[in-house]
Amino acid sequence: MQDLAIIWDWVGFAVRWLHVVAAMAWIGSSFYFIALDLGLRQAPDLPKGAHGEEWQVHGGGFYHIRKYLVAPAQMPEHLTWFKWESYTTWLSGAALLMVVYWAGAELYLIDLTKMDLAPWQAIAISAGSLTIGWLVYDLLCKSGLSARPTFLMVLLFVLLVAMGWGYNQIFTGRAMMLHLGAFTATIMTANVFFIIMPNQRIVVADLKSGRTPDAKYGKIAKLRSTHNNYLTLPVVFLMLSNHYPLAFATEWNWLIAGLVFLMGVTIRHYFNTRHARKGSPNWTWAVTAVLFICIMWLSTAPLRQDSVEASEARALTPTEQRFAAADGFDDVAGIVPGRCSMCHAREPFYDGIRRAPKGIVLETPADIARAARQVYLQAGVSHAMPPANVTYMEPDERQAIIRWYRAAGRG
Ligand code: HEC
Repeated sequence: MQDLAIIWDWVGFAVRWLHVVAAMAWIGSSFYFIALDLGLRQAPDLPKGAHGEEWQVHGGGFYHIRKYLVAPAQMPEHLTWFKWESYTTWLSGAALLMVVYWAGAELYLIDLTKMDLAPWQAIAISAGSLTIGWLVYDLLCKSGLSARPTFLMVLLFVLLVAMGWGYNQIFTGRAMMLHLGAFTATIMTANVFFIIMPNQRIVVADLKSGRTPDAKYGKIAKLRSTHNNYLTLPVVFLMLSNHYPLAFATEWNWLIAGLVFLMGVTIRHYFNTRHARKGSPNWTWAVTAVLFICIMWLSTAPLRQDSVEASEARALTPTEQRFAAADGFDDVAGIVPGRCSMCHAREPFYDGIRRAPKGIVLETPADIARAARQVYLQAGVSHAMPPANVTYMEPDERQAIIRWYRAAGRG
């Protein structure tokens, strides 16, 4: 069992590594194509059907790229597709969601002051909301609204903020931000998988059989890619937010998320305009800064104290009870508060720490039983905690934690 905790932690790291790398590849290629698209120029010798071209220099060579709006007159022999960047990002992200938030539902997903859910119920809401959310978005895009793209964007914004608010009624603040990010990223990948790629395949099939492809497929794909363009930056913010309790551990986290979506638009607008060589709309930075200041201000709103109190009231699960009953628990319950609770407290008194870091409270024996695996990994096996050993934790105290954790595994 103790080895399982270590293996599980490494599984989480490996999946996260893959996820971040895949996301870099996806976002990188997507930014590249957006900039390329906007920067295309007309040239006198463009072949029929070509919409524009661009010359680029990179890595010691010159590239001459042409874009055909619907399709070239003939199918080229070799065609490079860009889709696995997106699929890999989503698949590894889904795996990470399962490793961290589903397997750790009691710690990270469920907030008993908000809703008294069993882990399987919380997991069902997590998976169900992502699916239903996509279906709603897809219906909106397929309705007549696609003729009014700006209005559709506003509706999408309302949908995202509503989802954030809804998640915050059910899950921990941390899980709310993460799920809103996962929902947004699901929209983006599903746009590629269910809309952009199938349409592209129709066009390719038409070309191969000598038919002229309908231009509507290109237009539909363009609408979805425009959404993806504006959603990219907010998704990254939401995914990183779990490192910053100030962002997620307030009443107003859903509003913060809403402002982040607006920042996604203002920042992208600046670059989109520049890449289209239509000048530099510097005012967007002023708006972005104002939005960011609003976010900082919202983050200082008082934390719901009852959330911490409820975790106190919650009965220990059978696993947690086993940790509380294992040999050596009394020693650990004596050691940990003295070394950790100046920071990991309901009201921390360590300078500069306003809230229990990562929401981990280590004051009472029950707190310690609930966080057993993390205490073991952070302060037993590794020396990550206390940071820089500021509270002078002794080696034999770490040994006591390891002995206790392993005893619980044997028991
Ligand atoms: C000086 C303040 C301080 C002390 C003392 C301290 N911690 Fe922490 N702890 C932090 C901070 C800050 C973080 C957040 C680190 C981050 O965001 O990566 C943290 C994070 C953690 C986490 C979550 C790690 C994660 O990535 O999920 C655990 C578990 C933890 N501490 C356990 C302990 C234990 C056990 C002790 C005592 C042995 C302890 N801490 C002592 C400040 C402290």
